[in-house]
Amino acid sequence: MEEHLTVGRVAELAGVTIRTLHHYDEIGLLQPSARTVAGYRAYSADDVERLREVLAYRRLGFGLREIADLVDDPATDAVAHLCRLRGLLLEQRDRAAAMVTAIDRELEARAMGIRTTPEEQLKVFGAQLYNTIGSAYPATRRTEPRIAARIWDALGDARTVLNVGAGTGSYEPPDRDVTAVEPSAVMRAQRPPGAAPCVAAGAGSLPFEDQSFDAAMAVSTVHHWPDPIAGLREMKRVARRVVVFTYDADNTGRRERFWLTRDYLPEFADLLVGWPTLADLTGAIGGRAEPVLVPWDCADGFFEAHWRRPEAYLDEQVRRAVSVWTRVGSQAEQRAVDRLREDLSSGRWAERNRDLVALDAAELGLRLLVA
Ligand SMILES: C[S@@+](CC[C@H](N)C(=O)[O-])C[C@H]1O[C@@H](n2cnc3c(N)ncnc32)[C@H](O)[C@@H]1O
Repeated sequence: MEEHLTVGRVAELAGVTIRTLHHYDEIGLLQPSARTVAGYRAYSADDVERLREVLAYRRLGFGLREIADLVDDPATDAVAHLCRLRGLLLEQRDRAAAMVTAIDRELEARAMGIRTTPEEQLKVFGAQLYNTIGSAYPATRRTEPRIAARIWDALGDARTVLNVGAGTGSYEPPDRDVTAVEPSAVMRAQRPPGAAPCVAAGAGSLPFEDQSFDAAMAVSTVHHWPDPIAGLREMKRVARRVVVFTYDADNTGRRERFWLTRDYLPEFADLLVGWPTLADLTGAIGGRAEPVLVPWDCADGFFEAHWRRPEAYLDEQVRRAVSVWTRVGSQAEQRAVDRLREDLSSGRWAERNRDLVALDAAELGLRLLVA
């Protein structure tokens, strides 16, 4: 029993209560590998290492379910966790430093009797949506194999591939030479160990020579770019072939077809104002658009993914990994979720959407642009 620590000792060293450790054990997050003769929990060096990871992710604001997914990932060893944690902590430190600077400025301005503008006051919070929502991402956003197959097929025989707005790299083909581009430090820090090298840049200005890749791909990201057309042209400039997974916003049936936006979240339409038409998007790369149906059991938790599994939208974790929910604002989100919950329990949702049960895949306006 020498190499094991008692639950009391671990709690004391970690600065947590024994109750917390019992709770982690009960939910399967950290189950000590041994018991003392008297039946008390006993923690091995590996258990302590896992606790260190759990507590560090907790300190960074991750939820317990998210942490369970992170620490159970067999592809991430202790060193990879340390590297990821280090990146996230540096990011948090930089954000805190930026807020301190902003507060100092505001204090100085007030001392001089100057009122700062709303833009100045909010600048430090608006920095980058994905630096805020990014930490929820890996829990529900992962490769959907049927969509991946379409993307990889469209890449043809490309050997070198640039992945723009790469996030955690869900759709990066394993058998090609991939370079990733991702502007959010939080997302970069969450790329799995062994993932393709990732450059910090935005789609609007790709730091590569003309035609330096066989193909460029962009998945579920174009709607985040400040200027989608400019970004698509950049992709075309640096690569011979372009493959983009996005949606058709000018498709008028889109809102009506998806019950979530039609019956619960009409505010979604506001997010599409000013969005380029599908013709503008395909025109920017000189390509064509192919429909991509969303399978009923889609593995990648994007906005439309749970069209036949409505209960999923009640889960905060599912919503936090999708920017739409953050963008519509908490009031609209809460109202939509409350109404959906009511309709699911009253049976109204099932009644209104009874046709969906027979479908295995749905046409919800998602498109693969290929050039
Ligand atoms: C929904 S995620 C998709 C990530 C990844 N492609 C995937 O399919 O899992 C959107 C990504 O776009 C990135 N992004 C936001 N603005 C961008 C820009 N201007 N240029 C490139 N990527 C951007 C975000 O940081 C985020 O990682």
